[in-house]
Amino acid sequence: MEQTFIMIKPDGVQRGLVGEILSRFEKKGFYLRGLKMTTVDRPFAEKHYEDLSAKPFFNGLCEYITSGAVVAMVWEGKNVVTTGRKIIGATNPSDSAPGTIRGDFAVEVGRNVIHGSDCVENAKKEIALWFPEGVATWQSSVHHWIYE
Ligand code: RTP
Ligand code: MG
Repeated sequence: MEQTFIMIKPDGVQRGLVGEILSRFEKKGFYLRGLKMTTVDRPFAEKHYEDLSAKPFFNGLCEYITSGAVVAMVWEGKNVVTTGRKIIGATNPSDSAPGTIRGDFAVEVGRNVIHGSDCVENAKKEIALWFPEGVATWQSSVHHWIYE
């Protein structure tokens, strides 16, 4: 089973979307393995988005991510990295389909509510960065009703 790192950005927290977002992943059938509300400082934000450091929007992106509390999560399930990105929707909410989180709740790319790992390798890196303490293991009692 695969794991992904999902983060509700400061705008998602401020706008009261935490429950809605948790619910979408939970109802899909993915398992919550890690969950915490936290704030990150500038060096941490730069590390998380280090692949984008050459982009013109990098400074604004780091300011955005450090501007308030975030909710960091680890979700587990079959193809959860790719499917998680589909649940989130396209980076720019102008292109995000209705029914996706960004499609339903965001307007601008710089206020797009949520982050999701873009590949399994980056998911592993991000989980290690955000959850150095490790994540929880628990057995779903409905597992066989979700997976054949
Ligand atoms: P994320 O990492 O946050 O899940 O977003 P993503 O994979 O869909 O997009 P990525 O290219 O990794 O960009 C990270 C975040 O940077 C902001 N961004 N702004 N002004 C712009 O053109 C621009 N492009 C990207 C967005 O907040 C995006 O989610
Ligand atoms: Mg990304």
